[in-house]
Amino acid sequence: MSISFFYTHINLVAFNKVKDVLDSTFLSEGDVVKDFEGELYNKLGLINPVALNSGTSALHLALILAGVKEGDEVILPAQTFIATGLVILMQKAKPVFADIQFNTGNIDPNSIKEKITSKTKAIIAVHWGGYPCDMDEINKIAGENNLKVIEDAAHAIGAVYKNKPIGSISDFTCFSFQAIKHLTTADGGAICCKNEEDYLRAKRLRWFGIDRLNSKPSILGEREYDVSEIGYKYHMNNFSAALGIANLADINKILERRLQISDIYRKELKYIKGIQLLNYQNDRKSAWWLFTLLVDNRINFITKLKEKNIPASVVHLRIDSNTVFGGIRKELLNQNKFNDLQVSLPVHSGLKEEDINYVIETIKHGW
Ligand SMILES: Cc1ncc(COP(=O)(O)O)c(C=O)c1O
Repeated sequence: MSISFFYTHINLVAFNKVKDVLDSTFLSEGDVVKDFEGELYNKLGLINPVALNSGTSALHLALILAGVKEGDEVILPAQTFIATGLVILMQKAKPVFADIQFNTGNIDPNSIKEKITSKTKAIIAVHWGGYPCDMDEINKIAGENNLKVIEDAAHAIGAVYKNKPIGSISDFTCFSFQAIKHLTTADGGAICCKNEEDYLRAKRLRWFGIDRLNSKPSILGEREYDVSEIGYKYHMNNFSAALGIANLADINKILERRLQISDIYRKELKYIKGIQLLNYQNDRKSAWWLFTLLVDNRINFITKLKEKNIPASVVHLRIDSNTVFGGIRKELLNQNKFNDLQVSLPVHSGLKEEDINYVIETIKHGW
C-alpha cells in the first residue's frame, strides 16, 4: 500500500488544453487567462479575480493595494507559510504576530485587538488548512480601526463562510494554485478585490503597471501606455490558465471528496486518547486542504505511521521563529501549544476507501 501525503489532480482534458496553447504559440497572458478568471467567478463565486503567477504575488499585491508602506505594521498569525510574512518585509513594513485559537489554528480576533497600534495598516487572516477564520469579527475590528483586511486563502479555495464563498468577503483575498493545492495551475495564484478601483489597479500592477489587455499597439507597433506607478511581472500565463480551466471542471468533486474523508476521520478519531480534533462550527465549510490533529507524543505518532507507510506530517511550523522575523514570540500561548502538537493526515481525492480505513485502524492501534 502506498499513500501519498499530497496529491496533484490533473484532469485529462488538461493535456489537450495545454497543447492548444502550445499550438497557438501565444504562451503569455491572453484570453485563456481571462477565461480562467471568468470560470473562477462562475464556478466558485470569486469576486473580481485577477490571475497571477503565485499566491505570494497575490499577497504582495494585496499589501500594495492596501497602502502598506515602510514603517507600517501588519498583523498576522505565525501559523502560516513563510510567504505570508515575507511579503510584509518586502514592503519594508513590520509583521506583528497575533495569537491563534488553539482549537482551529486560525488567528484570534481578541489577540488582533491587543496588537493594534497607531501604525497598524492591515490584518492578514490565514484560513488554516482551509477552515475560514472568524471573518465577521475580524472585519468588524478592521472597520472600527480603519484597517484593511487581507485573507490568505492559499489553503481555502472553495471554502464558505456563512453562505458566502471565500473570495467574496473582505477587501482582498489571495489564493494559491501551486502544484499541491486543490486547484493547480502548476504555479499560480489570484487576488480578489471587493472594490472595483483596486481590481483595475491589480490588473495593471500584475504587468509592470500596464493594462495589458486594453493598451493597443500604436502605428509604431509598440503598445501605447503611461506607467504611473511601479508594477510587477506577476501575471498568469495562458499555459497555466489552460491547466487551471481543465482542473476547475473537477473542483466540486475534489472538495466533496475531501469533505467525505474528513467526516470519516472526525467520526472515527473523535474519542481516541491522545488526539484532539480541531473545533469546526456549522456556519462555515472548510476546503479541507489539511486535516490537522493535535496529538500527544507527536514524534511517536509520526514514526509509528511512517513504519506503516502512512505519511503523517507537520505542514508549516510557526514562522516567527525565523531569523528574518526576529525569533519566537513566547507570549503567543496558543501558538506555542499548537506548534508542539499539530500534525496533519493525508486528505485528498487520490485516497481510496481502503487507504482511509487503514489510516484509521493504524491510529486506533496506538503509538
Ligand atoms: C498559507 C500560505 N500562504 C501563501 C502561500 C504562498 O503561495 P504560493 O506558493 O502560490 O506563492 C502558501 C503556499 O503554500 C501558503 O500555504
